[in-house]
Amino acid sequence: MLALDGVSRYRGERLLLRNIHLGLSPGRLTLLQGPNGAGKTTLWMIMGGLLMPDKGHVLWQGKRIRRQDWSLVYRHVGLAGTEPFLHQDLTGQQNLVFWARACGLSGGREADRWLQQVGLQREGDLPVRRYSLGQKKRLGLARAFLSEPTVLLLDEPFSSLDRDGQRLLLALLHQHRARGGSALVVQHEAPPDLAADEIYRLEGGILHREGRP
Ligand SMILES: Nc1ncnc2c1ncn2[C@@H]1O[C@H](COP(=O)(O)OP(=O)(O)O)[C@@H](O)[C@H]1O
Ligand SMILES: [Mg+2]
Repeated sequence: MLALDGVSRYRGERLLLRNIHLGLSPGRLTLLQGPNGAGKTTLWMIMGGLLMPDKGHVLWQGKRIRRQDWSLVYRHVGLAGTEPFLHQDLTGQQNLVFWARACGLSGGREADRWLQQVGLQREGDLPVRRYSLGQKKRLGLARAFLSEPTVLLLDEPFSSLDRDGQRLLLALLHQHRARGGSALVVQHEAPPDLAADEIYRLEGGILHREGRP
């Protein structure tokens, strides 16, 4: 599916990512850990086409993604960053209708289904600026999952969720994996129930595979 092929990237003077190879496979959850400032979000941005690498390439189904190809790749990719991509003046419902339609889905029906899924049915008609941090996070996750993408790229998705929210996200991720989807979960401290298939740690620009002798 999506892969990084020899990706390097500088931030200022610092070489944050050194020749990184990382592939996401169908039916597998990949967890990426590492200290603050290690470059996890930078890696997430490059994999999601939001930042260009200085060296190396992002691959889709084994082929290099050229700049003009990203719009095709986005049909299969769900992104959620630490800041959810939401419009603060629109209600939760309106945000989801907008994204559902942008994905070619029936806006109203999908929006209501997802508000229910993430436990925001009572807040659906409130403008997003009045949501708590955790409620924004839930809405942002609904937005990322609603098109049932093949690949999910989630930066710190568990942060600011309460225990119920975390359980909900775990269930969504496990359903996604059972359907044959792949996911990159960037999270400093992920709940053990995530049961990731692969665990990596990014430190000093190098990606280390963990959990295998
Ligand atoms: N636009 C930028 N210009 C210069 N340095 C940046 C920029 N964005 C991030 N950085 C730096 O790159 C490093 C890695 O950031 P980031 O990828 O967000 O790390 P992480 O997500 O692992 O905490 C940090 O030291 C950060 O300050
Ligand atoms: Mg980060």
